[in-house]
Amino acid sequence: MTDRDPSSGLDTSIPHSARVWNYWLGGKDNFEVDRQVGDEFVRFYPDITLVARSSRAFLKRAVTHLAADVGIRQFLDIGTGMPTAENTHEVAQAVAPESRVVYVDNDPLVLVHARALLTGTDEGATEYLDADLHDPQDIIAKAGETTLDLSRPVALILMNILGHVPDLDEADRIAHTLMDALPAGSYLVTADGTNVLDGPAFERAIGVWNANAPLSYHLRHPDELARFTAGFEVLEPGLVPCASWRPSPDSDPADLRETDEYGAVARKP
Ligand SMILES: C[S@@+](CC[C@H](N)C(=O)[O-])C[C@H]1O[C@@H](n2cnc3c(N)ncnc32)[C@H](O)[C@@H]1O
Repeated sequence: MTDRDPSSGLDTSIPHSARVWNYWLGGKDNFEVDRQVGDEFVRFYPDITLVARSSRAFLKRAVTHLAADVGIRQFLDIGTGMPTAENTHEVAQAVAPESRVVYVDNDPLVLVHARALLTGTDEGATEYLDADLHDPQDIIAKAGETTLDLSRPVALILMNILGHVPDLDEADRIAHTLMDALPAGSYLVTADGTNVLDGPAFERAIGVWNANAPLSYHLRHPDELARFTAGFEVLEPGLVPCASWRPSPDSDPADLRETDEYGAVARKP
């Protein structure tokens, strides 16, 4: 991608979460500043690329399970990130083409790319909302107006976004406000960075990120992440390192190594 992007609203002089994440996933939708911070992060914590991969693979397995085994047909994915391989709508619509998927992000670059790339099946729907996680009621209202039937179950996806909310109580409030607006039988799919397995190295690398980027990220203990699924039925095997959440038999052995990225899938009773 050129560093002189004509799209308005893009600041290519500061690193951005979605673009650095894209870089670690091997994507091309990032700028020099993102690659510099991304490389410095890797020097402190080389496993970050594995974290990113295991997290996306977990998302794929979770969405496949919900679409194929549970029959979920509506997905609300907040903190979409740059389109990459096997995005939520592709995974869900591969199982059930009629699946309706709403993506939400507040980054202008994500907006430009998502609108260009996130096209789904004719039978289903794939929509993009420019909205802020910190205003969950607005997200629900817009999703309900445009694409989702909020009287039917929805899978809410909060992957690597609640860590961008510095205050744990606020992150918890957001997750529960969103789930409160969804009917019984809805699901929460969530994962974020933790500080138990490689704590010091990951924390040092996050320090680099937070010193360089306007949007900070906060590693949490799994006990803290467990607050987001409190009151819901957490599916087996519980809140675990993403690589260990129902690994597929054909997983690359390298991807089975546990990293400091915990995920869970939970059902609202
Ligand atoms: C690390 S990326 C994760 C992308 C994707 N969910 C994944 O796990 O692969 C975090 C995403 O959250 C978005 N984001 C951060 N804060 C947000 C907010 N307050 N409202 C909406 N999106 C936000 C960023 O723009 C970015 O796309």
